[in-house]
Amino acid sequence: LRLPSFSLVPKDDNSLLLINSGMAPMKKYFTGEITPPKKRVTTCQKCIRTPDIERVGITARHGTFFEMLGNFSFGDYFKHEATAWAWEFFTKVLEIPEEKLYVSVYEKDDEAYKIWTEEIGVDPSHMVHLGKEDNFWEHGSGPCGPCSEIYYDRGEKYGCGKPECEVGCDCDRYMEIWNNVFTQFDGDGKGNYEELETKNIDTGMGLERLASVVQDVDSIFDVDTIFALRSKVCELANVEYKKDENKDISIRLITDHIRSATFMISDGIMPSNEGRGYVLRRLIRRAARHGRLLGIEGKFLAKLCETVIEGSKDGYPELEEKKDFILKVLTQEEEKFNKTIDQGLAILEDMEKDMQAKGETV
Ligand code: GLY
Repeated sequence: LRLPSFSLVPKDDNSLLLINSGMAPMKKYFTGEITPPKKRVTTCQKCIRTPDIERVGITARHGTFFEMLGNFSFGDYFKHEATAWAWEFFTKVLEIPEEKLYVSVYEKDDEAYKIWTEEIGVDPSHMVHLGKEDNFWEHGSGPCGPCSEIYYDRGEKYGCGKPECEVGCDCDRYMEIWNNVFTQFDGDGKGNYEELETKNIDTGMGLERLASVVQDVDSIFDVDTIFALRSKVCELANVEYKKDENKDISIRLITDHIRSATFMISDGIMPSNEGRGYVLRRLIRRAARHGRLLGIEGKFLAKLCETVIEGSKDGYPELEEKKDFILKVLTQEEEKFNKTIDQGLAILEDMEKDMQAKGETV
């Protein structure tokens, strides 16, 4: 059953501020608390992740907003089927050459290693074992389990050049494109796990990352749909992409943050000083500040927001329905921030004058 994306605002789940994966809105289907409409489900879920917010713009693969493709099994198919279908999808449907793919498994999951090497036939030189930090899916409390990720080797030119560079390295060479989680535990968020009655599958494949592989482009910001938005940022700032790395960071950051802000407001989140409202406020302010760094004068976020809505309204009709509201919220917040910045700059200027009068320089 193909379900539409759930809202970005978690329902009856205090362990998350924002939906950060395809499985997050379906936790209760995994635990059996709620019966899912079907045992096999797929979604394309709007997601926000902010732990890597400081890396957005700097790398080719980090964004706070992304669309997550996933297939889920609630007590139906499990490890053997999920791994075989993942491989079939990449190598037969998308025709990605096998030699470009690497697979990681949780260091204690011998079963998964055996399936990949003996049943699927992945060469052991393309297999890596990773620890709990990388290969155990767990966000907040709820369903969790060991996972197995598929990485795409983008080639040496994207690498850091260090001799120890391999899957799991922080550089842009090996990009994780699909995570298969073998959801078999219910965690309390404090490190205690109970075996779930049924074995489940939760997968997550970032649409933007996948598109960057299939379209053979440099980064998620070069994918056709996002490219239109990135170009709009350049047009408003009157700058060219790929001329100045510092400017490029700002361009990518604004491109990402305006997508997050637009989708958050469409799901009813309002800028505020706490919780998810503060996440939204921070994203808007960061985008506005980087606009200033690029030399954009005056308000610009609403103009970009229109491009986001234009590009995504087919998949998310709520964007078009709430367009006027979204533009209004963004504009008000941007005006408020601009005023704060101007007041702050005026105070700073006074302090500087004061210091100059006293002959101080520090
Ligand atoms: N829930 C699996 C993932 O998002 O990677």
